[in-house]
Amino acid sequence: MACYYLLVLLILTVSGASVEAHGKLSSKYYSSTCPEVLAIVEARVRAAIKKEARMGASLLRLHFHDCFVNGCDGSILLDDNANFIGEKTAAPNNKSVRGFDVVDDIKSKVEKACPGVVSCADILAIAARDSTVMLGGPSWKVKLGRRDSTTASRAAANNSIPAPTFNISRLLSSFAAQGLSLKDLVALSGSHTIGLARCTSFRTHIYNDSNIDASFAKSLQRKCPKTGKDNVHQPLDFQTPTSFDNLYFHNLLKMKGLLRSDQELFNGSSADCLVKRYAADTFAFFQAFAKSMIKMGNIKPLTGRSGEIRTNCRKVNRKILAWKM
Ligand code: HEM
Ligand SMILES: *[C@@H]1O[C@H](CO)[C@@H](O)[C@H](O)[C@H]1NC(C)=O
Ligand SMILES: *[C@@H]1O[C@H](CO)[C@@H](O)[C@H](O)[C@H]1NC(C)=O
Ligand SMILES: *[C@@H]1O[C@H](CO)[C@@H](O)[C@H](O)[C@H]1NC(C)=O
Ligand SMILES: *[C@@H]1O[C@H](CO)[C@@H](O)[C@H](O)[C@H]1NC(C)=O
Ligand SMILES: *[C@@H]1O[C@H](CO)[C@@H](O)[C@H](O)[C@H]1NC(C)=O
Repeated sequence: MACYYLLVLLILTVSGASVEAHGKLSSKYYSSTCPEVLAIVEARVRAAIKKEARMGASLLRLHFHDCFVNGCDGSILLDDNANFIGEKTAAPNNKSVRGFDVVDDIKSKVEKACPGVVSCADILAIAARDSTVMLGGPSWKVKLGRRDSTTASRAAANNSIPAPTFNISRLLSSFAAQGLSLKDLVALSGSHTIGLARCTSFRTHIYNDSNIDASFAKSLQRKCPKTGKDNVHQPLDFQTPTSFDNLYFHNLLKMKGLLRSDQELFNGSSADCLVKRYAADTFAFFQAFAKSMIKMGNIKPLTGRSGEIRTNCRKVNRKILAWKM
């Protein structure tokens, strides 16, 4: 089954241009300066997932929310400070993104092995890949060499991360603004094969939309009332929420997507063809997912002398450290 669209070609041209403007990443970036980094991240992610499988989903999402806000630059990890209000309390992140303690744990182990070498932005990219693999998904060679931002923007986080109430056209424009195509949108949304969402994120879909299986909507309404219980969680893939598989796409075919933005991918648009393909063929989904993750990881990285290698992922380095170097 092939799904071809003119739109895909148009958007690819845009993404080529945006990658050119920034430095190139490489999978061997730390092979002489910190050969241990991949093993350290893998071990810490494994330990975190063993403790709580959902943490794999949370780490994958952190990389996405980092990359969509002024590029993959670790900005989401910065705590608020005197100069800016950070991204953690932006609408798409507040009380929702998690995994910061796991990132701190990874960072401290990596700093012990190779001080001042590996960026927080790269740690997020590696942890996202390792999480995917450990929950049963595809692997890929993570491109590295990103540097960390010295600032963060709550306004940009509010404006750049797509909302679960978006329809297909708004989802497509949100992804196109990052140089990502319809195919990237469908493949990357397959991340919702793992993890949980709050009642407040899916309430509109289960009460107001008609493109949802009636008994599925009813059972969710029992858990998520019209008002209150905002923070009650439900799995994004009701069948296997801790396995990275293609059942998310099966759910969409049965009108059992949890978020409106999920079901919009199978609601009569050109995305339908891709949803059917990934539901029918796990390998096709895995291949597309790996490719799109690399593409998402390439969004506007800071390279060369831009940005810095943060010592603590939550804080911009102090000037004094820059002087010593
Ligand atoms: C297409 C647009 C997308 C929208 C509108 C969207 C929206 C959401 C929402 C609302 C949640 C639940 C948050 C909560 O209620 O606390 C969520 C969870 C999640 N999202 Fe997305 N998302 C999108 C794309 C992506 C992409 C591209 C990725 C990764 C590459 C991703 C990975 C995840 C994961 C893994 C979770 C579960 C996190 C956890 O359990 O901690 N999402 N998403
Ligand atoms: C973040 O969520 C908390 C708890 O729901 C709420 O009290 C707070 O006002 C929210 N912050 C922002 C900036 O929306
Ligand atoms: C971002 O969204 C939060 C939560 O809705 C809101 O409190 C805040 O004013 C917004 N901030 C900016 C800078 O847009
Ligand atoms: C999608 O949503 C936007 C903004 O809410 C609206 O203007 C547009 O008509 C909607 N498009 C479709 C295809 O429903
Ligand atoms: C459903 O739609 C109506 C009309 O747009 C709106 O007032 C209401 O808040 C929505 N309900 C939910 C649960 O989103
Ligand atoms: C899904 O498709 C139907 C029929 O074309 C349309 O009325 C609806 O607005 C679309 N989106 C949602 C969220 O129902």
